[in-house]
Amino acid sequence: MKIVSGMRPTGKLHLGHYLGVIRNWVELQKENDCRFFVADWHALSTSYEEKQNLKELGLELVMDWIAAGIDPQRSTIFVQSSIKEHAELYVLLNMITPLGWLERNPTYKDQLEQMKNKEIHTAGFLTYPVLQAADIILYGAEGVPIGEDQRPHLEITREIVRRFHHLFGCEIFTEPKEMLTPMARLPGLDGRKMSKSYNNAIYLTDTSEDVWQKLRTAKTDPQRVRRNDPGNPEVCLVFDYHKALSDDTTVQKIDADCRAGAIGCIDCKKICAASIERVLEPMRERRLKLDKKGIEKIIEDGNEKAKEEASSMMGRVNDAVFEISCHR
Ligand code: TRP
Ligand code: SF4
Repeated sequence: MKIVSGMRPTGKLHLGHYLGVIRNWVELQKENDCRFFVADWHALSTSYEEKQNLKELGLELVMDWIAAGIDPQRSTIFVQSSIKEHAELYVLLNMITPLGWLERNPTYKDQLEQMKNKEIHTAGFLTYPVLQAADIILYGAEGVPIGEDQRPHLEITREIVRRFHHLFGCEIFTEPKEMLTPMARLPGLDGRKMSKSYNNAIYLTDTSEDVWQKLRTAKTDPQRVRRNDPGNPEVCLVFDYHKALSDDTTVQKIDADCRAGAIGCIDCKKICAASIERVLEPMRERRLKLDKKGIEKIIEDGNEKAKEEASSMMGRVNDAVFEISCHR
């Protein structure tokens, strides 16, 4: 299956990104024809006021992907703003997208509400899903792995496809299917959403020492004062990490031992740290073999492949729009 997905370059990836998104991409690439791209234009829609080096952030993002197991031999990795066809198609799609679809978008309304600290009443932010539609249909993607918050955007993509086909009498696009990522959300170390801005994240680049320091100071069941006080794993963050990262037998044993007061929190956290290390250690090893030059080359090659596909599709789109000529 043809798959496209993108991620905004907003800084280094944490364990939540890995478990929620990247781990899934790594699996998908084994059996599918995948394209993963750095959505740097999309990043600007919310961060245009911040002076940040998007090029550098993009390189870091791709470095994290590859360290986490995205294989550039299997998957095409590219940068959105390097493929100008995204912008070209975005212009055309903007012409046919009713404002109502964008204004009613629940994700849009939520984010306006949540990002009160930013001025995002911009054309770019309102039309975010139009650019996303262009990203997807430019490559004839059949499937798009996304999280819950992106479902409305994919629905808008499908509506835009149908409207284009109807208006220009030419069925050149594919209506993509959503591939909802099954995700047990991993909270941050303070129980809030894991996020850079809350300073509560475990990063894919953290050392073993970093991981242990963060885990060591994490809150556990406050009722447990002494080591053999019975605890309740359900109110403990460390247990969430076990559920996400430890094997079933370990999870069951910790559940029972915690309730019986048979395991101390420090010992429990040590087991948890080991489970995290099992995920991070292979990434550290892969990262040792990567350098900036190599990443740049991977992106260059990926851009070239993406460009070829994108320009061939844009040829057909422009024929349909400007010459009322339809060829699939
Ligand atoms: N909007 C997506 C997000 O914030 C990123 C994205 C941009 C994307 N274009 C895409 C995801 C195309 C899938 C397909 O997560
Ligand atoms: Fe949490 Fe483990 Fe302590 Fe129970 S034993 S409270 S699960 S850290």
